[in-house]
Amino acid sequence: MTAMTPPEPALLQLDNVTRAFDVGGKRPLVAVRNVSLQIRPGEVVGLVGESGSGKSTIGRMAIALLPPTGGRVMFDGRDLASMAPDDLRRLRQRMQIIFQDPWGALNPRHTIGRLMEEPLLLHTKLSAAQRREEVIAMAQRMQLGLPLLERYPAQLSGGQLQRVCIGRALATKPDLLVLDEPTSSLDVSVRAGILQLLDTLRRETGVAMLFISHDLETIHALCDRVVVLYLGCEVETGPVDTVFKNPAHPYTQALLSAQLFADPAVKTVRQHLQGEIPSPLAAPPGCPFSTRCPVHEARCDEGLPALRSDSAGTHSARCIRLAPDRFFSSTSSTDSL
Ligand SMILES: Nc1ncnc2c1ncn2[C@@H]1O[C@H](COP(=O)(O)OP(=O)(O)OP(=O)(O)O)[C@@H](O)[C@H]1O
Ligand code: SF4
Ligand SMILES: [Mg+2]
Repeated sequence: MTAMTPPEPALLQLDNVTRAFDVGGKRPLVAVRNVSLQIRPGEVVGLVGESGSGKSTIGRMAIALLPPTGGRVMFDGRDLASMAPDDLRRLRQRMQIIFQDPWGALNPRHTIGRLMEEPLLLHTKLSAAQRREEVIAMAQRMQLGLPLLERYPAQLSGGQLQRVCIGRALATKPDLLVLDEPTSSLDVSVRAGILQLLDTLRRETGVAMLFISHDLETIHALCDRVVVLYLGCEVETGPVDTVFKNPAHPYTQALLSAQLFADPAVKTVRQHLQGEIPSPLAAPPGCPFSTRCPVHEARCDEGLPALRSDSAGTHSARCIRLAPDRFFSSTSSTDSL
């Protein structure tokens, strides 16, 4: 995450990544701004932020669905931008994405069995009998009854369909799974079951995950580390327990205070988030959170605050008011728009 992160090899590494979109105006829309993050093998990293903060854009860049316009995305030490198309195609099997809407992700004219067999047909040389065996094993792991394999997507519930999507994504045994709000379109009653399944799969398969969510309680339960985004900028990052128990950035403090937590150790300073997140086209100069920050002062507008880390180099935040005895190591805040 920062210059002081221990030098353990990263599976996914975003180095100072920016993504701008040309939206026909004078200035491009900068959806993601100078984000650096790492995911190590088997690690689960949560990405949290309000609507429009750039979460899905980061998720798409992480699995090479979208190229960055600045910085670089590395997978297993290789820069995705410099890979030959054939190599990139092979690499894509090692990175999969689950979207919010399982209905849109599945062909309604195919049976569930056929849909779960599809990735095996495309990416393996298994015989028909072996594929059948794999599909049955996968259905059992996803806790989907075998009669469902004969049915069509319209005959399944949202939770069951999301299990089908997760099974399909894991069929090629990927190293990285990006989950873009995988439970937000589902009934509250089935969410816990999906999260439990992801937790089990993570332990059984060792797959690394980038888990995108609005829901802090879910991030707290499932993730090892969290990255808090605001207007495309990484404003705080660190181990979930550290960030949730001792949030350093006023935005993280406000987000946490808006949610109730089962764990009483999660610190919720009563500080309410006022107003709306601005459009990236009208981002304030200096600190991105300045228009809503309860402790804003004039010098916050002088430039993007540097990301500062604690002595362990694991917890970082981007605010000029951080306690200097706790956060002192500064990383570059250079913009690369
Ligand atoms: N293809 C695109 N063209 C233009 N603007 C885009 C494009 N994709 C995303 N954006 C803009 O980039 C910003 C970030 O979008 P993104 O979808 O990454 O946010 P998000 O955090 O995933 O939001 P949500 O929680 O609503 O899913 C938004 O302002 C969005 O309108
Ligand atoms: S830099 Fe200033 S405006 Fe931004 S979060 Fe810190 S105190 Fe608030
Ligand atoms: Mg999104």
